[in-house]
Amino acid sequence: MRTQVGIVGAGPAGLLLAHLLHRAGIDSVILEARSRPYVEERIRAGLLEQGTVDILTETGVGDRLHREGLPHEGIELRFDGQGHRIALTDLTGKRVTIYGQQEVVKDLIAARLSYGGPLLFEVEDVSVHDLEGDYPSIRFRHEGRDQVLHCDVIAGCDGFHGVCRDAIPDGVLRAYERVYPFAWLGILAEAPPASHELIYARHERGFALATMRSTSLARHYIQCRPDEDIAEWPDDRIWAELHARMAGRDGVSPIKEGPILQKGVTAMRSYVVEPMRHGRLFLAGDAAHIVPPTGAKGMNLAVADIIVLARALEAFYRGKGMALLDAYSRTALRRIWKAQRFSWWMTSMLHRFDGDDPFEHKVQVAELDYVCGSEAGSLTLAENYVGLPMEA
Ligand code: FAD
Ligand code: DHB
Repeated sequence: MRTQVGIVGAGPAGLLLAHLLHRAGIDSVILEARSRPYVEERIRAGLLEQGTVDILTETGVGDRLHREGLPHEGIELRFDGQGHRIALTDLTGKRVTIYGQQEVVKDLIAARLSYGGPLLFEVEDVSVHDLEGDYPSIRFRHEGRDQVLHCDVIAGCDGFHGVCRDAIPDGVLRAYERVYPFAWLGILAEAPPASHELIYARHERGFALATMRSTSLARHYIQCRPDEDIAEWPDDRIWAELHARMAGRDGVSPIKEGPILQKGVTAMRSYVVEPMRHGRLFLAGDAAHIVPPTGAKGMNLAVADIIVLARALEAFYRGKGMALLDAYSRTALRRIWKAQRFSWWMTSMLHRFDGDDPFEHKVQVAELDYVCGSEAGSLTLAENYVGLPMEA
């Protein structure tokens, strides 16, 4: 089998890359380890930056997003039992949109299949080869048959636990990492959201976030131990903890209870590898970097990488040479590091660190007070939250 761009992974990164390449007249094949129902139902991120909404809209996959997504013009930061609104749109002119990652994935899969673009699910034993020459290839097994996909370029969009990053020889990549001493326990509940906007709460018992998937589906997260056993969290314990962390000074909690449909624990880490390329293999999205979820940047960063990579591949196939591909890693990393910094900062400001000394606690609250009380402070948060401009 032969194609121009071989794409490993059908997450937001791989699917969007295939979509943008198709629109530019460039062929690709996507190889995905999981089944279609699995990737379409996997609950993950839910907040899209304006730039993410814009690229999906401009390229014809934004119809359902505009019908079903919930645009938001502000968020609430809650500390010492009091809420403070950050007016995102008044400050930046931009909005964010709540629309589940799995819905973006469904829309991109539907678009891909509508024009017959090759997308193979449940492939096994994927490995990438000949990365240093002009003729790289991908070996895999599909429906019981061993196959080889020959291509010009390989896009490693296979997430943090994929095979592409590990295929790069030792000594080429440098990794930068921070592991946090906590995780998030997330729930999806058949209940109205706590408020019409998201609430990020700093509390002595730990961080809590009240978000949503629709006007009748709430999504909430609470800070927990990294090795938390979900079996120790029956529903009533989760609700009690959410109420305690979200309650105002009057003791009233905005959280509304309902049947819990799904529970899970997500680890928190910051991770970047540099460069995001080896020969003809280009890494994008979680394959190259992970952010803690506090700033809602994970999926948005994957989209931003793909915009840079698709543009570089288009230039390559239009006969403009390798210059933009050579610049891909450097260009993408500038924005990635700013999003890393923001995600780390939001995480540090809002979470309880074990062994917190009272001084640190006071500094955290002073920082929140400054951010909410100063227009410069609010603007700094807002312009990062809605998404920094895409790199030129
Ligand atoms: P992925 O979505 O991981 O896609 C990679 C794809 O590659 C997957 O479909 C995988 O099955 C496939 N794959 C892996 N290995 C192979 C292989 N060997 N061969 C073929 N295919 C392979 N971000 C936020 O901003 N907010 C959140 O609340 C949030 N919650 C999250 C919760 C969880 C449990 C996780 C894991 C992540 C969460 N994230 C969140 C991060 C966000 O979902 C990711 O940043 C985003 O999915 C990145 O997209 P991607 O396409 O790069 O990678
Ligand atoms: C969601 C997740 C986040 O990490 C965040 O900061 C905002 C929203 C969500 O799942 O809706």
